[in-house]
Amino acid sequence: MDKTAASLFPPSEMIPEKHRIATAVEQREYLCDGAIRTWAGPLQDVLSPICESVNGSCRQKRIGSYPLLTAEQALEALDAACKAYDHGRGRWPTMSVEERIRHVEGFAYRMKERRDDVVKLLMWEIGKTLPDAEKEFDRTVDYIRDTIGALKDLDRVSSRFVIEQGVIGQIRRAPLGVVLCMGPFNYPLNETFTTLIPALIMGNAVIFKPPRMGVLLHRPLLEAFRDSFPAGVVNTVYGDGRKVIGPLMESGRIDVLAFIGSSRVADTLKKQHPKPHRLRCVLGLEAKNAGIVLKDADLDLAVKECVLGSLSYNGQRCTALKILFVHEEIIDKFLPRFAEAAGKLKGGMPWETGVQITPLPEPDKTKYLKDLIADAQAKGAKVVAGGQVSGTFMSPAVVYPVRPGMRLYVEEQFGPVVPIATFKDIEQPMNYVIDSNYGQQVSLFGSDPTVIAELVDPLVNQVCRVNINSQCQRGPDTFPFTGRKDSAEGTLSVSDALRVFTIRTLVAAKETDLNKQLIKSIVTARSSRFLSTDFIL
Ligand code: G3H
Repeated sequence: MDKTAASLFPPSEMIPEKHRIATAVEQREYLCDGAIRTWAGPLQDVLSPICESVNGSCRQKRIGSYPLLTAEQALEALDAACKAYDHGRGRWPTMSVEERIRHVEGFAYRMKERRDDVVKLLMWEIGKTLPDAEKEFDRTVDYIRDTIGALKDLDRVSSRFVIEQGVIGQIRRAPLGVVLCMGPFNYPLNETFTTLIPALIMGNAVIFKPPRMGVLLHRPLLEAFRDSFPAGVVNTVYGDGRKVIGPLMESGRIDVLAFIGSSRVADTLKKQHPKPHRLRCVLGLEAKNAGIVLKDADLDLAVKECVLGSLSYNGQRCTALKILFVHEEIIDKFLPRFAEAAGKLKGGMPWETGVQITPLPEPDKTKYLKDLIADAQAKGAKVVAGGQVSGTFMSPAVVYPVRPGMRLYVEEQFGPVVPIATFKDIEQPMNYVIDSNYGQQVSLFGSDPTVIAELVDPLVNQVCRVNINSQCQRGPDTFPFTGRKDSAEGTLSVSDALRVFTIRTLVAAKETDLNKQLIKSIVTARSSRFLSTDFIL
């Protein structure tokens, strides 16, 4: 192992004991039809982004393995989910909202008990820093709490009858059926749960497949899933997506696809469904959010937010600032300050205090990033700072000037490389946003209210969030999170998610004496969970 890698990746005995993976996690379990089954077939090795020295060379540490299930197990999970849903007649979809909430609360309670195990695996599987891994866990628990609150609000509004033009109606939101949830590697817990929990609590049955990197961290939660929900309501599948997900989609029995990943994979999955019009999709896809630094921007603030926006979690956020456009009059001031601030970010192991840049989990990621940089260099750009690679680690690279024709100008790098371009006329970054395949967010840095206002109005019609003097981000989770073009389909937020996994359905009756008497009797006897005025307190 070379000297830099050796100083970066500590030998096992130097890792604080509480952060060590004492024995590899050999997962053979998967959850199907209310039981944790044991897989006897082949396993997939899990390699950590954290390297170790083997015979003097730098190798990714093996931290465990998970089942490589086949189509057979995937279809068993599907059968279990379909049986649990039972065309909307199952115990779970017909359960009262209050009862379903109790099940989810029970799950959240059990989940919190496993915080340390999940956090440790987040560090080892995807290289997330300890504070960020803790934040991901806690944010997810808060999301569950807020989802319960939002559902109570929704249910209270639906607990009344409306009478319109002589027709009595009660309108509620009902589940859609079987939901396939697939989250991304960068937020394997949070972004999986921001679809899984709302889908579940609204009465759907769920099959979930963790991302390829970020599987083992779900293992500590399997028992809680098994014990908290009726059999078949939650099922897990692992393995090669083509083998396990293809057959699920081709079956035509998946009602909702909740997928966070690439538009290429999303398109493939959608096309596999034999009746695409039946398939609801909730998709979070790519983005190449631009930061536009105007000539009157507060430079300290712009640098701070741009560093945070482009480099937190190594730039591996869909919301990351993936290109910066800086006005040519201030580039000479901005560039050295930005390069200095990026250079100060501490690199190291996820558990080390103050570390912000960590090893990258995606296979061959540093090679891909080096290729992007080399392409830009060949076309006239320079690496102003960083870009040194040691195994799976790359120090933040600042590349300038990035221009049209360079891969870094258009490709979503999803890593610690910051392309910086300049502009003279605001039409340049504006046209960039218009011409981009993506339409998630943008950040504007400036101080003139007239200029900002003139930019906000067209930009809100290009992207779905314009951030002023602030980095791009998803949160707070009560805000709508979506995108245009290749960036998303459907909107997620605590309350929107309850809507996307349901459909409005109602019971209506002409306002006759017979019907009034009938409805009154049902409500008084509390013999229906739908026709009901019960109010959740
Ligand atoms: O990867 C995309 C995430 O939704 C971004 O979330 O802005 O809170 O980091 P974040």
